Amino acid sequence: MIKISKMPSANGKISVAPSILSADLWQLGRDVLAVQKAGADWLHVDIMDGHFVPNLSFGPSVVSSLKGKTDLPLDTHLMVENPMLFVEPFAKAGADLLTVHIEAKDEIVETLKLIKSFGVKTGLSIKPDTDPELIAPLTDLLDLVLVMTVYPGFGGQAFLPGSEDQIKRVRQIIAASGKAIWLEVDGGINAQTAPRAIKAGADALVAGSAIFKAADPVLALNQIRQAAPDI
Ligand code: DX5
Ligand code: ZN
Repeated sequence: MIKISKMPSANGKISVAPSILSADLWQLGRDVLAVQKAGADWLHVDIMDGHFVPNLSFGPSVVSSLKGKTDLPLDTHLMVENPMLFVEPFAKAGADLLTVHIEAKDEIVETLKLIKSFGVKTGLSIKPDTDPELIAPLTDLLDLVLVMTVYPGFGGQAFLPGSEDQIKRVRQIIAASGKAIWLEVDGGINAQTAPRAIKAGADALVAGSAIFKAADPVLALNQIRQAAPDI
């Protein structure tokens, strides 16, 4: 069955994607509906396999539990060594976008084509020390590039110095491709760092701890929006 993705194409607007990695799982449904009501654009779901990154998080059942309960598109970030194994289960669970890492072990073109075969939008992520030029030959297959602004694996880390250069370079590669591709950033995004990421060329912001560890997640989301120009 081909799914119709709810994920919009890149449209020049800024999207904010709260990451449930930092949510209190006891309160997950309540908090997801609160950020949805407060104007979040997507929900970021971090998947970790304990190999690609030294941490474990969620499986497809978490995605299928969210599907249908929230209207937010499910922006699913696969931090796994063998993404080919997990594309089908996450697509069937209801992921609207599947982002894989260029540093993962599976052949990247094959992996991106597999994601597309399920009618799911494609994302490609690079770690902070990965050369952005590796993305250039793949732009025809991409809906989104995810620039990691921390080393993946854990929430609550600080936005790495030098991230702006990485974001700017990816923005140039996207512009040269002539394609509508989102440029999402992930790691250490808060009201202070969001404007820096946007100025460098980001148009989608993941924020985990800055939203869900805040005493008032709705206020924190609004503060990120207000801090970021043109949202
Ligand atoms: C980290 C994950 C992030 C994480 C971000 O490896 O990919 O999505 O949730 O968390 P914060 O916003 O706290 O840096
Ligand atoms: Zn993530």
